[in-house]
Amino acid sequence: MKFVDEINRRRTFAIISHPDAGKTTLTEKLLLFGGAIQIAGAVKSNKIKKSATSDFMEIEKQRGISVATSVMGFDYRDLKINILDTPGHKDFAEDTYRTLTAVDSVIVVIDVAKGVEEQTEKLVEVCRMRHTPIIVFINKLDREGKDPFDLLDEVETKLHLHVCPLSWPVGMGQQFKGVYNMYEQKLALFRPHGKQEAEDTIEIHDLADPELDRHIPPRQATELREEIHTIESVYPKFDRETYLKGAVSPVFFGSAVNNFGVKELLDCFVEIAPSPLPRPTEERIVDPYEDKFSGFVFKIQANMDPKHRDRIAFLRICSGKFERNTNYFHVRQNRSMKFSNPTSFMADKKEVIDEAFPGDVVGLYDSGNFVIGDAVTSGESLHFKGIPSFSPEMFRYVNNKDPMKQKQLQKGLDQLMDEGVAQLFTKETTNRKIIGTVGALQFDVIQYRLLHEYGASVDFEPVHIYKACWLRFPNDKDFAEFLQRRKNDMAKDKPGNWVFLAPSAWMLQMAQENHPSVEFHFTNEF
Ligand code: G4P
Repeated sequence: MKFVDEINRRRTFAIISHPDAGKTTLTEKLLLFGGAIQIAGAVKSNKIKKSATSDFMEIEKQRGISVATSVMGFDYRDLKINILDTPGHKDFAEDTYRTLTAVDSVIVVIDVAKGVEEQTEKLVEVCRMRHTPIIVFINKLDREGKDPFDLLDEVETKLHLHVCPLSWPVGMGQQFKGVYNMYEQKLALFRPHGKQEAEDTIEIHDLADPELDRHIPPRQATELREEIHTIESVYPKFDRETYLKGAVSPVFFGSAVNNFGVKELLDCFVEIAPSPLPRPTEERIVDPYEDKFSGFVFKIQANMDPKHRDRIAFLRICSGKFERNTNYFHVRQNRSMKFSNPTSFMADKKEVIDEAFPGDVVGLYDSGNFVIGDAVTSGESLHFKGIPSFSPEMFRYVNNKDPMKQKQLQKGLDQLMDEGVAQLFTKETTNRKIIGTVGALQFDVIQYRLLHEYGASVDFEPVHIYKACWLRFPNDKDFAEFLQRRKNDMAKDKPGNWVFLAPSAWMLQMAQENHPSVEFHFTNEF
């Protein structure tokens, strides 16, 4: 196949939702349609659950939450689909934000009864900032839920998305009869539990057709006609270009657990979703169709095999063809590297690959050479944008409980920080180490992993910090003055940048007022 065709057939996306909305179930159903897994109907048997979510970490098993992010690839209708899984737990939101830098579009799952929830709002905000095309799937129509029009309003007001329904439910809960697919002008009749056969889908090009009344109760047929009429007069007609700009989001309704509405979603997705898109770097825009290879690391997964301290760096390919055993340029380390076992992920299988194309994610075995955001190219010095570290929300001093293990602790902290588990700050005055995270759970993860993987025992001590701010000074004099006055609250992050650890919102405001020439930033990328 030609290089251009390889790129055009790739669709790389993530499914995001508030926990419990049905992300895992939908992922499984999509994998079933792609033939990537075989166990139809057996939703979330342990086997599928294990392959459809990333279950690499011991801690994840212990806690039953999906901590890690994995990749699932499958072929569907001549296309190569890559789903990047994201952890649902809010304490791992930063992991999800970074994964979103590696996709070209997203599907947002919303629970019909709960509507738009907090975690969804935050994730969609990140997508909106980047103009990522978004499809909305409203799930669990087999249950009673909110009125569909109210839900559309909620999506518009809370997620700030312009919506365009492409399918519409006929009833819900006990009265759920099916979904009218406006995109294809077909009525799909609901049969619980994955028995959606071809004969349950009826073509109805004109809703006035009395055929409709033969399949659904007359009252619901009348309602459907009225509702579709309202939709056509209120919402814009679907336009793919507008969707690709992230300016309108098509909405689908269904029930993932019943395998209903999922095929319609997938069939529409493969038609409208974008193939690999250009990516911004500090130097220039990288186009996927360029001959020259480039990619960036958006995720580092440790502990795939607890016996070996190996890690896998997940590299999103942005341009050119990636080939095994070829010399590439590791930009940050300014040196050449070769990968003898690059791995691809196809649902529950991993395999060594010889080549990969833009849109693909390859796993590179890593013994500590990569940090998140690293670029690998065929020689050019590129720095991909949009993979920032955010200001953490929780801070603790880290104390070494075993002085004999200082070296192990240092190594463990270094590696965990490179993986993006948390951020480490070293205080200027005392040299004490402070860990900053987005959620409380990470402290448990860090403590557990330091002990089990590095043999280092730590505990944490509270510290009053409200926010970490990265600073930019106009000149050396202003820097010296700031440092002098705020010495006790100054620290360095791991790469050695100066950070102001504001003890409170008020102190932050004071610092900003007293030093108007200094720029305060809440991510390390500015
Ligand atoms: P998540 O990944 O977004 O956290 O959600 P997940 O797919 O795990 O789904 C959360 C719960 O919602 C699961 O039930 C799942 O079976 C259920 N669910 C998913 N889709 C539908 C749907 O269309 N209709 C209904 N009624 N339920 C749905 P659970 O009880 O937590 O797990 P399980 O015992 O079913 O495995």
